[in-house]
Amino acid sequence: MGGINPYIEQVKADLPRQPYTVTFVLDDAGATRDVRVEPDKLPYSHEGLPGSILDIAMGAGVHLDHACGGVAACSTCHVIVEQGGESCNEQHEAEEDMLDLAPGVTDRSRLGCQCIPNGTRPVRVRVPSWNRNLASEGPH
Ligand code: FES
Repeated sequence: MGGINPYIEQVKADLPRQPYTVTFVLDDAGATRDVRVEPDKLPYSHEGLPGSILDIAMGAGVHLDHACGGVAACSTCHVIVEQGGESCNEQHEAEEDMLDLAPGVTDRSRLGCQCIPNGTRPVRVRVPSWNRNLASEGPH
């Protein structure tokens, strides 16, 4: 599933121009999964905005819940960008509104479907505990 939310403005984001790594933190013990992002292969999954954390996760077999299909109309794709957040696009109003409804929000919280790193630095993303039972690894 996927698509565009007609109620949100056009999201402005710079797509990466060079390969970079997204590290997904999958549990409290620190289990991680590194995903190398190749700009010329985006989008990976057609879930969320092209090049978004959700797109990258789903394309790599790291499951993130995404009940609305990646159009900023729920908060189930909530992730915490622990490092590299400064290389990501700005939050838009609809994203802020949805994050207000998410449990466990921090000042580094983002909607995975709307957060697009520009590839200028590595990004480390924590998958919140309520999504962990669904987290999986393996080739896609
Ligand atoms: S999947 Fe619904 S807001 Fe991201």
